[in-house]
Amino acid sequence: MSNPLDKARTLFVSGNAHFEAGRLEAALADFDAALAHSPGRPSLLVNRGATLCRLARWEEALPTLQAAAQVDPDHADAWAAMGLAQQALGQWAAATESLQRAHALGLRDGALCLALADCQMRLERPGAALAAVDQALAADASLAEAWSLRGNLMREAGRLTEAAAAFDQALVHGGHPELHRFYLASVRSGEPVPPHPPRAYVESLFDDYAPDFQQHLLQDLKYQAHSRLLAPILAEGRRWPLALDLGCGSGLCGQLLAPVCDAVDGVDVSRVMVEQATASGDYRRVHHADLLPFLTASESLADLIVAADVFIYVGALDDALPAAAQRLAPGGILAFSVEQADPGHDLQLRPSLRYAHGRAAIERLATSCGLSVRALWAAAIREDQRQPVMGWYALLQRSDGAQAAS
Ligand SMILES: C[S@@+](CC[C@H](N)C(=O)[O-])C[C@H]1O[C@@H](n2cnc3c(N)ncnc32)[C@H](O)[C@@H]1O
Repeated sequence: MSNPLDKARTLFVSGNAHFEAGRLEAALADFDAALAHSPGRPSLLVNRGATLCRLARWEEALPTLQAAAQVDPDHADAWAAMGLAQQALGQWAAATESLQRAHALGLRDGALCLALADCQMRLERPGAALAAVDQALAADASLAEAWSLRGNLMREAGRLTEAAAAFDQALVHGGHPELHRFYLASVRSGEPVPPHPPRAYVESLFDDYAPDFQQHLLQDLKYQAHSRLLAPILAEGRRWPLALDLGCGSGLCGQLLAPVCDAVDGVDVSRVMVEQATASGDYRRVHHADLLPFLTASESLADLIVAADVFIYVGALDDALPAAAQRLAPGGILAFSVEQADPGHDLQLRPSLRYAHGRAAIERLATSCGLSVRALWAAAIREDQRQPVMGWYALLQRSDGAQAAS
């Protein structure tokens, strides 16, 4: 009869075979059984943790991997897997430390360096992120994700030629075509400007941003679009039966509108933002949808439609503005803010990945969809590097003769 160590070894080997073949539950069962025969053995703990990581059971993986690293602090794979679990859980500082330990112990593969770069970027350490991304590319120059990250670090640093070169490489190595053409158009003049950003990009941008959104926007960026846009509407001192808040975000407009409206409905493309706006209690209903299909899916009319700081993530308004106009009750108001384009431009995509709109284009489009310009004024939206970012604020009114959606 074999001793417990032999049994553990046999189970370890079969667990590894299951793992390699992608039979992860079977692998986990073998590693658990092996640990019952040989408790605390680092190689078993690491492989159990790595299996849990592959199963995306990150929280369960962590204690196993921590135990492995405690028993054998020089086990590079334990630190690497721990770092990946911490990264998946958004524990950026802890993940950075673990990945750096693995790196110092000799693990230098592209995926590990890329994970480290991602964590450094999340911690807003662009220099360290760039160093890690360049190590990732030195290990594997075909990593599209690393080129993409390099491009975005360069874009944010204002090094636009290098950013464009990195996005070119991301495309060459299989990076998402729509996303990287959008990135390229933001940094290289002469590239065709996509009329709209990729929807998945906007969704994930705001899903990631939502937890810190209000604090960052209001305190750090001195965001004012919601209050500036709604000030003249609130000053009217009237009640609005139904308001639609397009791209409602966490609910800053809803908070201002709820006291003067019988009902406020919100819509947002980001699921996390929808959860926050719903939790605010200021909305009758918050829909998780892109604003264009949301507007065209219904014929019910609203007295007030607002879009504060939203069209800068929509791009061309040729479809959105007429769709909003068709949802306005006679005499109803469409209120929105956009960033100002440079003189002579109708639509620009900035290196900030935000669109900017021209005043003349707004006026033309308003007229073409039966809206009269009640007010159109210039004022700051927020700050960038402590400088005001100027916008256009528009109040467009549906003239009584205009046709509602047919
Ligand atoms: C800068 S935030 C502004 C949020 C809010 N209006 C405010 O003033 O606080 C932009 C919001 O628009 C949403 N958004 C962007 N494009 C959208 C689209 N096509 N459809 C619906 N929501 C969109 C984003 O998810 C985000 O919540």
